[in-house]
Amino acid sequence: MSRIHHDGPLIIGGGLAGLSTALSAAPARVLVVSPAHLLEAASSAWAQGGVAAALSADDAPALHLKDTEAAGAGLVDHHAAEVLTDDGRATVEWLASLGAPFDRDGEGGFAVSREAAHSMARVARVGGDGAGRAILSALATSVRAADHVEVWEDGRLTGLIQAADGRVIGAVIDRAGQRIEVLAPAVVLATGGAGGLYGETTTPRALLGEGMALAWMAGAEILDPEFVQFHPTAIDVGLDPMPLATEALRGDGARLIDKDGAFILGPEPDADLKPRDIVARAVHRARAEGRGAFLDARTAIGVHFPEAFPAVFASCMKAGLDPRIQPIPVAPAAHYHMGGIAAGTDGKTTLKGLYAVGECAATGVHGANRLASNSLLEAAAFGRRTGEAAAREKAKDRKVARIVEGAILSDGALQRLRNGMSADCGVIRDAVGLKRLLVLIGDIEAAQEAALPLVACRLIAEAALKRHESRGGHYRSDYPETAKKAVHTRLVRTDPAVAA
Ligand code: SIN
Repeated sequence: MSRIHHDGPLIIGGGLAGLSTALSAAPARVLVVSPAHLLEAASSAWAQGGVAAALSADDAPALHLKDTEAAGAGLVDHHAAEVLTDDGRATVEWLASLGAPFDRDGEGGFAVSREAAHSMARVARVGGDGAGRAILSALATSVRAADHVEVWEDGRLTGLIQAADGRVIGAVIDRAGQRIEVLAPAVVLATGGAGGLYGETTTPRALLGEGMALAWMAGAEILDPEFVQFHPTAIDVGLDPMPLATEALRGDGARLIDKDGAFILGPEPDADLKPRDIVARAVHRARAEGRGAFLDARTAIGVHFPEAFPAVFASCMKAGLDPRIQPIPVAPAAHYHMGGIAAGTDGKTTLKGLYAVGECAATGVHGANRLASNSLLEAAAFGRRTGEAAAREKAKDRKVARIVEGAILSDGALQRLRNGMSADCGVIRDAVGLKRLLVLIGDIEAAQEAALPLVACRLIAEAALKRHESRGGHYRSDYPETAKKAVHTRLVRTDPAVAA
């Protein structure tokens, strides 16, 4: 074991949120810890759609805000969403200034496309469906060139270090098998989501909600963990994780059909552009009824598919499927976690010294259902604000009082958990299934106590069981109505050994 003192923010995670935070913390010295090469670890690199922002002449942040609140089904924090949508244009311009090669229109402005539940075309794309990788790559280049940033690309977060008053004063990192305690004036969790907790996911499998689990163990407030977003069109060709067929395909006219060619959501031209939770449930039902679900791009996109959507085209062709002439088999898959560590727009959590940004944070901007392509916007916009705030924390000599740590979960146990989450805490939930899942979690806990994925699953499943209504991404077949009053779930650990 070794212990080091770092005099600036320690950032855990090398996705868009982590790197935006790192660049914006200058001139404070920053240490970024990523479990793998910067372009390989984070789900940001897998994002296809783009960055949502009011960029066109007929758009305005207030209209973007209205769509964000409508999609969020009553649980969007108005102030946070206003900050986000107001920051839209400046964020896209900042990313472009760092070299993100956004698609341009004829006049040199940002070309924008339409995605579900947006009232107009508003998503800045890169190379059709390559936004995530191209943007992250531009930021990684800037980070590597920045004198104030040091990057470890082989470090995994395993614990948080606290002072006697509960303040987070460092993190435990497993670096190639070596346990290192890094003490720092601020710890920023940019650890991404929890898609890997599900057997069907569009995210890297390594994303297991571990940042949320550790933050909870340390005593931070967790907000709305039951709200998981399922993407309606993961490509169903037997791969784990499942490749994504971006919503922009439907924005460009591709249609959801069943095996007999009937429209799954109806014939109206906009029927497939309803909020993501509605489309995901319709696709789920079509499959459950044996009708199958397919994304048909033959007419709307056809021969243009390879240039218009190169990443989706490559995924299909690799699976022996030509989307120019064949409908793409699709299924819903866990895609994004709206809930997570309660945090402000500057990343501050309820624990001093601890910040959370990007998908692991719950700032309230997504409510019960995130609007398409608001995630990259949030990661970059709030990453910038978080970097500035975390840089203001002063290094002080603080005494270590306790360390919260999680155990490793065996591969076999993780797979049982993933199957249980998909079966019983997926697109459609009920009390019987959620109780069965909690029994499974308890069984695995009996053998592998305090493994972080178990903690994360318990937070999600218990909150889902307690929410007796359907709202946004959380649908209960035994409580199909939406309650009149929208109420948040707020969870804080009460265990006196851990609470501050
Ligand atoms: C997509 O391209 O369909 C996904 C974009 C997002 O998750 O916002």
